[in-house]
Amino acid sequence: MVENQIKTILCIGAGYVGTPTMAVIADNCPEYKIIVVDKNIDKIRAWNSDSLPIYEPGLEDIIKRRRNKNLFFSEDIATSIKEASIIFVSVNTPTKKFGLGAGMASDLQFIELVARDIIKYAQEDKLVIEKSTLPVKTAEALSRVLHSNDKGLKFEVLSNPEFLAEGTAINDLQHPDRVLIGSMKTESGIESAKILRNIYTHWVPTEKIKLTNLWSSELSKLVANAMLAQRVSSINSISALCEKTNADVEEVSHAVGMDSRIGSKFLNTSVGFGGSCFKKDILNLVYICRYYGLNEVADYWEQVVIINEYQQNRFVNKVIDKMFNTVVDKKIAVLGFAFKANTGDTRESPAITVTKMLLKERADVAIYDPKAIENAKLDLADYSQSNNLHFYNNAEDAIKDSHAILVLTAWDEFKELDFEEAYRTMKKPSFIFDGCNILQHEQLKNLGFNVNCIGKNLDRLKDDE
Ligand code: UDX
Ligand code: ADP
Repeated sequence: MVENQIKTILCIGAGYVGTPTMAVIADNCPEYKIIVVDKNIDKIRAWNSDSLPIYEPGLEDIIKRRRNKNLFFSEDIATSIKEASIIFVSVNTPTKKFGLGAGMASDLQFIELVARDIIKYAQEDKLVIEKSTLPVKTAEALSRVLHSNDKGLKFEVLSNPEFLAEGTAINDLQHPDRVLIGSMKTESGIESAKILRNIYTHWVPTEKIKLTNLWSSELSKLVANAMLAQRVSSINSISALCEKTNADVEEVSHAVGMDSRIGSKFLNTSVGFGGSCFKKDILNLVYICRYYGLNEVADYWEQVVIINEYQQNRFVNKVIDKMFNTVVDKKIAVLGFAFKANTGDTRESPAITVTKMLLKERADVAIYDPKAIENAKLDLADYSQSNNLHFYNNAEDAIKDSHAILVLTAWDEFKELDFEEAYRTMKKPSFIFDGCNILQHEQLKNLGFNVNCIGKNLDRLKDDE
């Protein structure tokens, strides 16, 4: 492939990863034409409208700046495949729900369908880049499907994992810690990796772009997420110990994080981690280890997920315990449903588990989230007929007449609520369970609330003073 022929880049999959990534490439490489396609036509229409399908700070500005200049959202997958010489594959790879590897392995049916579309419509050689999180060695499978074409076409497959975190995606893409490009160590593989590197060098310093072999690149993505999740589960496990003793998990986390060998990031305790990657990637790692007979290694990583489930169960058990062992027909205001602040994404959000557990206990659950209400409705569709589930457009109405407030997402606006007024409108005794440790607990106690948070026993701490 001659480099100066590469003028059109295609991304298949207009989701949380594909669109922000292409928007940032379009913004930094005005000489390229970038097309984004998706099999979901409604999504493409939404990207072409004023009401974008995903909330991500900073994304709307770039879309407005670049759309229909060098960034295009198209419904025409066939023509776009023909036109582009570089194709990013950024479709979803959820955990398999059936058959061999169910609950652990990745479901690769979407990837395979994309490969078959590429074969069907391509008329010349292409560079295919996997941008989704994939289990190790998938590039090989992708390459094999692509080369099963009978048109004599050659496809070079690269792995270019995405490390963006939702809520900070644009900044993460604009200033990445590193860019990984994995390729086959053949002459054409290395050549292709360099072509991709030349796109990134438009805005990323060369020393941050690492060329690796294909398998290292794919595995690094899984391991990075597993290690980040492990830190959260580690501090969450300690939060349980802090609640039993008289330690304050935030003091512990701060003290531990000040050790420069450990560092302070990803040590914030919470009701549990969520998001589309952490659980899926760890389970993938576990599955791969089991496949190779490394059972001890698999058990080690699986424990990170088990602690995450434990943390969510522990939280709900505490709510029930503190509220006199019953929440039947008690209105409980769930503030925050997104898996973290600054996103409307609810995939694997702890709020889903917490809400379902409360509904099983027959509580009357009142949900409010500034950006995630529509996704929350989809997540709880099985309960849509329930008289005990209600969605609200503002926190005040969700809180009114409730027995308890549960904070499950660290949205800034929850810190600024008028809790004096909230207390006035709530049933007594009024409870607050802060699952994100973002509120002013002493102030709330002074207002009359019965306050609980994660990793510190507020009553015991006071007793000791
Ligand atoms: C993650 C990785 O960070 C990113 O590099 C990868 O590309 C995709 O997966 P994301 O899932 O968007 O990104 O969010 P992240 O900020 O990593 O948070 C994941 C979960 O961990 C959230 O539920 C968050 O609330 C939780 N978390 C994070 C904690 O509970 N405590 C922390 O200290 C940090
Ligand atoms: P991610 O977080 O990995 O970006 P998303 O679910 O947000 O995941 O986005 C993946 C997108 O890929 C979805 O919009 C989905 O419709 C799209 N997609 C899945 N399979 C195909 C396919 N065969 N062709 C085109 N788009 C696809």
